[in-house]
Amino acid sequence: MDTDRLLRELTEFLRIPSVSTDPSHNADCRAAAEWVAGELRRLGCREVQFLASGTHPVVWGVGPEVPGAPTLLIYGHYDVQPAEPLGEWTTPPFEPTVRDGKLFARGAADDKGQVFCLLKAIEARSGRPPVNFRFLIEGEEEHGSRVLFELLRREPERTRADAVLIADMAYIAPRWPAVYTTLRGLCYAEISVRTAKSDLHSGEFGGAAPNAHEELARLLGRLKTPDGKVHVPGLYASVKRPSKVELATWKRLPFREAEFLKHRVQAQALTGLKAYSVLERLWALPTFEIHGITGGFMGNGAKTVIPAEATAKVSLRLVPNQKLKMVERQLAAAVRRFAPKHVQASVKFLHGADPATVKVTHPAFKLLDQAFREVVGRGTVPARAGGSIPVVPALGKGGAPVILTGIGLPDDRLHAPNEKLDLKQLWDGIRVFGRFYELLGALDVS
Ligand code: BES
Ligand code: MN
Ligand code: MN
Repeated sequence: MDTDRLLRELTEFLRIPSVSTDPSHNADCRAAAEWVAGELRRLGCREVQFLASGTHPVVWGVGPEVPGAPTLLIYGHYDVQPAEPLGEWTTPPFEPTVRDGKLFARGAADDKGQVFCLLKAIEARSGRPPVNFRFLIEGEEEHGSRVLFELLRREPERTRADAVLIADMAYIAPRWPAVYTTLRGLCYAEISVRTAKSDLHSGEFGGAAPNAHEELARLLGRLKTPDGKVHVPGLYASVKRPSKVELATWKRLPFREAEFLKHRVQAQALTGLKAYSVLERLWALPTFEIHGITGGFMGNGAKTVIPAEATAKVSLRLVPNQKLKMVERQLAAAVRRFAPKHVQASVKFLHGADPATVKVTHPAFKLLDQAFREVVGRGTVPARAGGSIPVVPALGKGGAPVILTGIGLPDDRLHAPNEKLDLKQLWDGIRVFGRFYELLGALDVS
C-alpha cells in the first residue's frame, strides 16, 4: 500500500472546509463534492452525477457492471461540522497534520476519512472485487439530510441493492470492531420566549416587568428533572427496554464507566438516570440537551437591561420505537404547558431524524465479521450507537441490510476540537473493506 500517496490524497480532501450548516461555505461543499466525483470517475464509474442540490449535491456513482454479482450501495457524507472554537485546536482544523500516528483535521473521522477508506479499499487487493458498486455520498448529513430525503422519496430505486455499507462510526474500543444495531433519532428545535414589546431599563422596570431570560431559564429547567429524566409528557411511553439478553451482552463489552468518566467525559461526575447503566443511558434512552442560549446583552462591559426575547437551541435524542413526528408534538405541547400565560413561547423545529434499527442476520454481516477477524484479529461485536444518521431508515426501506460500522476510535473527538483519525485504523480499514468486498463478491445472490 502506497501510504504516502494515500495520505497526500486524503489531506487534499480534508483541506476543503465543507461545513454544511454554514452558507458561507457553500462553495466549499461543492468543491468537496467535486473531489468525491473525481475519485468515483477514477474508480471507473460509468455514471457520476450531482443530484438534487446546486450547493450541497448528492454525489451518485455507478461502478463498472459485473453481471450476476451482488450490488453494494456505499453511503457516506463529505460535509463536516463547524470547527469552532478555533482557538482550541493544536493545529488548524483545515490544515491536516500528522502527530504521533494520528491525522488531525475536521472530518478526519467524521466522515471524510472513512469515505476515503471505503473508496480506496476498492483498489486494495489485486484485481477489482466482483461487486456492482453504487455510491451515494451526500453533503448535508450534519444538517439533517433534507435534500437526500427528498431524493429518496422521489427515487426510492436508488437504494436497490443487496446490501448498504456505511462507515461513519467507531470501534467500541481499540482492537474491538463493531457493527451497530440501532442509531438514535434526533429532534432539533429552537425554543423562544418573548415577554415584552422591547427591552426595558432594569432600574426603571426591574422588580415589576417580566424578564425573557429568566422565563426561558425556568422553562428549560422544567423540561428535565434534576435526576436526569426528560420531563416531556408522554415521551417515555413508547420507549422499549433492551432485552435481558442484550443488556447482559453489554456487560461483557470492554466499557468501564469509571474509565469513561475519567478519560472520555473528563468531568467530575456522570449525570442522568442512575437506575440505568451508562450504556443504556447512551444507547437506549431519550435525552434532552441545551446547545446554546442567546438574547439579552452579551457585549463588552455592562448594560442594565431587561431582555424582551431569548432563544435556546435544544435537541432530544430518540430511541427505537419513538417517532420524530410524535416527539415534535410532545415537545411543543410541553413548552405550551410549562410557559406561564404572560409569556409568548414558541418552538421552531430545525431538523430531525427517526431512530433506526437494523437486523444483523443477513449473510453480509458474517462476511464483514470474517474480514475484520482476518485483518485485525477480532470480529465485529454488535453494539448500539448514541448518534444519528438521518437517512438510514430510508436506505433500508427497499429491504437491503444496512451495515453500520466504522474504523474510528472512541477518542476521535467528533464535532469537537482536535478531531483525529489514527492512521493505523485507516490502513487496517482499507484492508478490511478490501477483503470484505472480495468476500461479498463471492456471495450467491441469484
Ligand atoms: N457520524 C455521526 C453519527 C454517529 C456518531 C453515529 C457517533 C454513531 C456514533 C454523524 O455524522 C452525525 O454526527 N450525525 C448527526 C446528525 C444530525 C446533525 C442530524 C448527529 O448525530 O448529531
Ligand atoms: Mn458522520
Ligand atoms: Mn457528524
